[in-house]
Amino acid sequence: MEHKNSLKVTMTGANGFVGKNVGKALVKKGISVVGIVRKGKESSINFGDVITSEDLSENYLTSKLHGCSALLHFIGRGKQTVDSDYHKVNVGITKNAIKLCKKAKIKKIIYISGLGVHKDTTFGYFISKFQAEQKIINSGLDYTIFRASYIIGKDDSLSDLLFKQMKKGTIMIPGSGRYRLQPIFVGDVAEVVFQSIIQKNFSNKIIDLVGPKTITFNDYVKDFLQGKKTPIKNIDLEDAYHAALNNPKTDFGIDDLNILVGDYVGNHKKLKSMSGIEFKTHKAVLKTGGLS
Ligand SMILES: NC(=O)c1ccc[n+]([C@@H]2O[C@H](COP(=O)([O-])OP(=O)(O)OC[C@H]3O[C@@H](n4cnc5c(N)ncnc54)[C@H](OP(=O)(O)O)[C@@H]3O)[C@@H](O)[C@H]2O)c1
Repeated sequence: MEHKNSLKVTMTGANGFVGKNVGKALVKKGISVVGIVRKGKESSINFGDVITSEDLSENYLTSKLHGCSALLHFIGRGKQTVDSDYHKVNVGITKNAIKLCKKAKIKKIIYISGLGVHKDTTFGYFISKFQAEQKIINSGLDYTIFRASYIIGKDDSLSDLLFKQMKKGTIMIPGSGRYRLQPIFVGDVAEVVFQSIIQKNFSNKIIDLVGPKTITFNDYVKDFLQGKKTPIKNIDLEDAYHAALNNPKTDFGIDDLNILVGDYVGNHKKLKSMSGIEFKTHKAVLKTGGLS
């Protein structure tokens, strides 16, 4: 194991929800972090050093990343538009990330894929995540791929959505709400990522990044409300998909619905035994104000 104080890593998507939280936590542990963001996003980073890149293909990046022992690849997109499709972002930029690792002699890549991604998946977002995983697995780099359920913490997108609906006066649950999720605290994600940088037992593995409790969406929403009386309405799934197909501003996009209804459940026991972490439950995160 290398001594942590000698470690330097780089992180793409450093201004995203996961990037910001993991970046701050790693710096606290004495790791040097070089965040990579798109031009104009530099000021949103308040940890480590920052460099800019549009798609990780620029030659000037190589010299700036000298001495990094890992690249944490947190660029990702879960919504597509006519200008930016999944393949371009999730596969194309991952290919560039791999090339960058090789040019800058970075031996390890850490990637966050989605819980439920597998070779027989049939929807675009997961297909792009699967293809990105394959590029990484076949790259010859040391890798850790995490397949994540909902990552929760201050400003996570699911909580933002639920807060927005609370403000409007009603929480809308698509369909039955009986599909399950395994929320994981972003602080615990940071610890797991830290371990995957320094520990060999995370090498060349795909690991479910899932929290300690499997819970239906209905129950998650109830816990989220913490006794507040906001009305909850289960909306017709066909109506939810209809809105998602025709309105890019709808609360639940096509892929949000696919992921929810997909009812994906992973192996928390394995993550716990590999990491030895006492993971926070979503209730504890909600109670201690991790979300507000
Ligand atoms: N959060 C979760 O619950 C969750 C669950 C499963 C998997 N994941 C995966 O974890 C990773 C990080 O997620 P997150 O929650 O931190 O997402 P996020 O907050 O949306 O951040 C995404 C990051 O990707 C960058 N990005 C998006 N499109 C890009 C493009 N075309 N070119 C360059 N950069 C681009 C964004 O930069 P800009 O600000 O410049 O757009 C941002 O830094 C993603 O791969 C996501 O799929 C997250």
